[in-house]
Amino acid sequence: MTTPPVCDYTDSDYQTSFWDQGGRAYEDAAEAIALKHLLPKSGKLMLEIGAGAGRNTPRYAGFERIVLLDYSRTQLEQAQARLGRSDKYVYVAADAYRLPFVDGLFDGATMIRALHHMADAPKILAGTARVMQNDSMFILEFANKKNLKSILRFIFRRQEWSPFTREPVEFVKLNFDFHPRAVFDWLAEAGFSVEARRTVSHFRLGLLKRLVPAKWLAALDGLFQPTGEWFQFTPSVFVRAKRVGRNAIPPYNGIAFRCPECGHSPLVEKETRVECPSCGRAYEFRDGIYDFRQAM
Ligand SMILES: C[S@@+](CC[C@H](N)C(=O)[O-])C[C@H]1O[C@@H](n2cnc3c(N)ncnc32)[C@H](O)[C@@H]1O
Repeated sequence: MTTPPVCDYTDSDYQTSFWDQGGRAYEDAAEAIALKHLLPKSGKLMLEIGAGAGRNTPRYAGFERIVLLDYSRTQLEQAQARLGRSDKYVYVAADAYRLPFVDGLFDGATMIRALHHMADAPKILAGTARVMQNDSMFILEFANKKNLKSILRFIFRRQEWSPFTREPVEFVKLNFDFHPRAVFDWLAEAGFSVEARRTVSHFRLGLLKRLVPAKWLAALDGLFQPTGEWFQFTPSVFVRAKRVGRNAIPPYNGIAFRCPECGHSPLVEKETRVECPSCGRAYEFRDGIYDFRQAM
């Protein structure tokens, strides 16, 4: 099965350079407010797709267990260093295009700042829908091509691409901004019903961020976020989408993996590997991280 290329964060210092030292306390706090309003209060098993270094993971504390999935093993190592090894967190290195889980395993999922890297967003959303139970909630963040800055740049001829058309714009290799209407339609096609929308980062302006303390600016952002129900002109949009229209699947005990190559389940867990009895492939389990990117 061929899948689109992956934006590889191996050895990236993204968490440190972009968040911890990148002057983004406002964006981080604004995202926390959006998540607080959109997340279910509790749940059993959450899938965090493109979890990175686990910046958002503590915000999902209402869930009993959280599976952090990321293509980059080094990002997961950073997450593990922050969150520790315990039964609460399961670390899985895998390609989001080939999720290594059985159908309907999760009763919650998030994907924050990761759709941004997906050349085939509808495929990612369909794959996410596959592993979610009926009525479960998916919180998705996407980068909005129809944001105020890009509209102004387009009007004043500082930018060639139109913010009003539905196709994604790849402004840097494997970095995409999306039209909100297109994302809402892809979600519906994948089997989700959009329940709530929040616009986030209304005040992403250097001068404002320098003048106003991040917490105040984020609180103000929080007041404006519900306007996302009617229009979306911010660079970031959060959506709560409910998985609908699938038959109930009896709950699994624990994490039920599925072979990303042949699709067989159940797999057999050994001390240092997970084996597929159907195709014979084995996937590494080392230092608390499952690695389904390729067979051993
Ligand atoms: C911009 S970071 C966001 C990390 C985290 N969600 C946050 O908001 O701090 C994007 C993450 O998506 C991951 N990613 C990109 N493409 C992926 C893919 N095809 N499968 C799984 N993870 C992927 C990257 O490794 C990276 O950690």
